[in-house]
Amino acid sequence: SDQSAFETDVWTLTRFVIETGRQAKGATGELTQLINAMLTAIKAISSAVRKAGLAHLQGLAGAVNVTGDDVKKLDVLSNDLVINMLQASYSTCCMVSEENKELIVTPQEKRGKYVVCFDPLDGSSNIDCLASIGTIFAIYKRTSEGEPTEKDALQQGNNIVCAGYALYGSATLVAFSTGAGVNFFTLDPAVGEFILTERNVRIKPKGKIYSLNEGYAKYFHPSINEYLKHKKYPEDGSSPYGARYVGSMVSDIHRTIAYGGIFMYPANEKSPKGKLRLLYECNPIAFIIEQAGGLATTGTQRILDVQPESLHQRVPFVVGSPDDVNEYLSFVKKFS
Ligand code: AHM
Ligand code: MG
Repeated sequence: SDQSAFETDVWTLTRFVIETGRQAKGATGELTQLINAMLTAIKAISSAVRKAGLAHLQGLAGAVNVTGDDVKKLDVLSNDLVINMLQASYSTCCMVSEENKELIVTPQEKRGKYVVCFDPLDGSSNIDCLASIGTIFAIYKRTSEGEPTEKDALQQGNNIVCAGYALYGSATLVAFSTGAGVNFFTLDPAVGEFILTERNVRIKPKGKIYSLNEGYAKYFHPSINEYLKHKKYPEDGSSPYGARYVGSMVSDIHRTIAYGGIFMYPANEKSPKGKLRLLYECNPIAFIIEQAGGLATTGTQRILDVQPESLHQRVPFVVGSPDDVNEYLSFVKKFS
């Protein structure tokens, strides 16, 4: 058969990371090892999300596996995978996970110089209905010597060395940035590698979609509701925006980067800081969005400038196409 169409010099994410590492002065390969470990965890999570090997685990019917134990919940499994893979890469000193209340300190003999903040499986409310979910991560260099402490993890998003997200959607995709733009890599399950599918991704200056949980409108600040009214009943005769909300941030963010528009999880009376967590949800996404030419704000401050005070703190989150986010900010101004 004709194999001439078979690409033999593919850019995988692994290759991309190795190349970037070689260009960095004084690089030891530790970051490359760390990212590779993260990618292995992501591939394993992807396989679990797609229920690969399900029959083997569960028997052909029934909710318990052959040993009689309940099958491990996907979010717990994902968390264990990321922690174990990262610790085994000898490149972390501590980690923050959405699933762990406390700082996760790497056993002394396995320590390296990086700090990782991650949400192993975001979009928990979508797990049981099989809608898209994702993994989010940000990597920092540690700033201290000696025993790792929370302070190592309480760094501004400005210090991010690299960040990314994995989307377990109709395909598995990783968006990744080391601060020199954003690239998309799509998992080819046949070879188990992430293949570069979109280079130097740029978000549109302005989109046509707004995305938030509008069910909470009763509790929103008037600036949000006025902004939304403007999107639905534009005064200038332009067309109203479309509405999309999956309720999985990675999914809603990936659409926002791919098609343009605005995503928001604002503060409301019931949740005065919104819902999303600064360290492992907002910061990595803000980094990616900015690297794609978009904006990310709390409404009063650039996300990456926020000085974190605690591991699981929340911040109001508004991100997307620059013109759309700026338009929202003009409504904030009007009401302040
Ligand atoms: P989770 O970490 O428990 O999954 O919560 C985060 C998720 C985000 O993916 C999503 O943007 C948001 O929660 C949806 O919340 P809501 O159901 O309030 O709209
Ligand atoms: Mg989450």
